[in-house]
Amino acid sequence: MAYTLDQMTPQPFAERRSAPRQPLLLSWRDGQAAEPRAEIVAGLRAPQASIAPKFFYDSLGSQLFAAITALEVYYPTRTEASILAARGAEIADALGRGRPLVDLGAGDGAKAVRLFPLLQPSRYVAVDIATDYLGESLRRLQREHPALEMVGVAMDFSQRLVLPPEAGPGPRTLFYPGSSIGNFTPAEALQLLTRARAAAQGGRLLIGVDLVKDRRVLEAAYDDPQGVTAAFNLNALVHVNRLLGSDFEPRDWRHVAFFDEAQSRIEMHLEARRPLMLHWPGGERSFAADECIHTENSYKYSVEGFDGLLRTAGWSRTRAWTDARGWFAVFVAE
Ligand code: AVI
Repeated sequence: MAYTLDQMTPQPFAERRSAPRQPLLLSWRDGQAAEPRAEIVAGLRAPQASIAPKFFYDSLGSQLFAAITALEVYYPTRTEASILAARGAEIADALGRGRPLVDLGAGDGAKAVRLFPLLQPSRYVAVDIATDYLGESLRRLQREHPALEMVGVAMDFSQRLVLPPEAGPGPRTLFYPGSSIGNFTPAEALQLLTRARAAAQGGRLLIGVDLVKDRRVLEAAYDDPQGVTAAFNLNALVHVNRLLGSDFEPRDWRHVAFFDEAQSRIEMHLEARRPLMLHWPGGERSFAADECIHTENSYKYSVEGFDGLLRTAGWSRTRAWTDARGWFAVFVAE
């Protein structure tokens, strides 16, 4: 396994007894994963240009996503929270208590924090690709929950999901909220769910999944009137400029989002407002007016469809809870 582990805070747990507890922050890099630059260039050179959605999440992108979750039109976060609040005790019974809680794509950790009283985790393990945002969030959470051991793991788990030993011994509870699984194709989602099973080490999975619904509700959620989702989409260009040295000018691009019913997914794109030439060190590409860069898919499932995916990935004893409108589902699997 070609992983390297960089410890970003030097104190091991044992030396931190007297001082206020600090989270352990680890950067867990996969030596076999494609370099971000090579991955971005391959996407930009493809006939249908694309930028992978993970490139939304620099610090500003993570903050913009947090702002999206508070929007009136963006129902998934609120609906998932309402299911967890209403059915929390039952869900905790199905999950078991006192285990390491591994929060995949933790962001600001707000969703996991609400589970602490229910699950009484032995340790909180926040995993996220946005290293700086993860560090800031975890330091704040540690101040608010000084008694709980906290570990931050900065990694891209879209390629591989192998956790460092500091994530604690199994069985672990894996928490993958917010329907982030919908940002993978069903084939990729199957791989990720299979890897999650190995990472849980005999534990359980708590996962949130957005469900198919009226197109108007779906499309409004991805094109809000305040323009926060547009800013989130356009920020990927700024992030890519920083990683690649490219010369994207965000004002040359327009945010586009629509529901593709045949594929059961929201697609987000950035559309060129005029013909333009993009340059980066060692390469360039022209875009015609209205040509698009595909930046995100957000798949919407049926309860039965997602249950089948979990079972194909080797999970069993699956249970699902939904809200009264049937807009969102929370699954527990063993
Ligand atoms: C993170 N993920 C589940 C969000 C979604 O709904 O697919 C990302 C997002 N994109 C636009 N708005 C929110």
